[in-house]
Amino acid sequence: MSMRMPQEDADTRMDGAVHRESPVHIVTTPEPAVELGQTRLGPHFRYDLRAPDPALLDRFIVENPVYDWSQLSWRDVGRPFRVENYANGRRVWEEQNGDTMPVKTAWEHFNRSFHSWFMKDVPAEQSRVLRDLARKLTGLKWSDITAVWEDLQQVAVWNFAHRLSDSIWDPRGKRALFRGLDVEKPRILFLGAAEGYEAMQLLAMYPGGEAVLVDYDEFCMTHRFGEFPDDYPFLGVNPRTGAPRAWHKSEMNITYIVDDIRNLPFGREFDIVISVGLLEHFPDEYKPECLDWHRRFLKPGGYAIVTTPRLSWKSRLFYHVMAEAMNYTYRELMTVQQMGLYLYENGFDILRHGYIKAHNGIIARPR
Ligand SMILES: C[S@@+](CC[C@H](N)C(=O)[O-])C[C@H]1O[C@@H](n2cnc3c(N)ncnc32)[C@H](O)[C@@H]1O
Repeated sequence: MSMRMPQEDADTRMDGAVHRESPVHIVTTPEPAVELGQTRLGPHFRYDLRAPDPALLDRFIVENPVYDWSQLSWRDVGRPFRVENYANGRRVWEEQNGDTMPVKTAWEHFNRSFHSWFMKDVPAEQSRVLRDLARKLTGLKWSDITAVWEDLQQVAVWNFAHRLSDSIWDPRGKRALFRGLDVEKPRILFLGAAEGYEAMQLLAMYPGGEAVLVDYDEFCMTHRFGEFPDDYPFLGVNPRTGAPRAWHKSEMNITYIVDDIRNLPFGREFDIVISVGLLEHFPDEYKPECLDWHRRFLKPGGYAIVTTPRLSWKSRLFYHVMAEAMNYTYRELMTVQQMGLYLYENGFDILRHGYIKAHNGIIARPR
């Protein structure tokens, strides 16, 4: 199943406002959620249009700790850490069904749960949980109190990780990782796209292109992408002037395909093939197949962009506290050296590697 987003003829004025053609020539100037160079904290997420100067983006990525990948071995870098505390929802499903949860079902649970967190008004949620805690404390029932205490920890971790520090979307880190690619109006293929955030950031930085988002969970198209807020500003450029400007979802040329990546009909036709948080869900015996997906749809000279959550005490804490929300699928946390070695051993030359807030990021080309 595929859905084409309405592509409107958008014309950008010098002041950054968008003019869409209509019979009565009404010029709409939407109130910007945040000005260029500024950030603003909303109840669900942070709006962030800081660091429009590409030179400053070096501050948001720690780059290139490895000089020669051919000299690195698994003995040097060790193996990734496996996150093995699964969500209760998975255990309950397996008890009810008398079987191991299939991978696609696990993704369906994950996407619904993760999406519900993105949709939360976090300050309102914090107040609700605190009120609940006060009520449960007066009831003096230990099991009720510990359950609300866990809710409180989750909301606090989500508030910090997503809303305050913006470590999940990390727009400045992603812009630092994606900068300087030799592409114009690129065709972008996003494997396991979920809400498609990174394709939208790429389209803002390299405007005029097209992104094809692929996810086999239909909920990702209808809800995770479908409900992604159109007032979220992606900092990019105005192709006519080269000046910074904010782009929004509805201005972008995006096609969403609901299907298994293994069924994609494409040839070598994309300038960029990207995945964000996909590789670490494959045990080692399946990683070559997953990495091959990043090669087989690329034009000669195209870029594979791969990111995975990086191994750190913060990410371990996140997946520990948020286990109920996040841990339905097989998952590893790895260092950028481990991730780079997977790519190098599977036939990629690594052009840029490093880490941003919560993820490792690699820009690579098939050898
Ligand atoms: C961890 S998510 C990607 C991370 C994403 N940025 C997020 O915010 O959730 C991985 C996505 O890949 C999708 N996926 C996994 N295997 C797939 C396959 N074989 N074909 C299509 N989609 C797949 C899942 O449905 C899921 O939405």
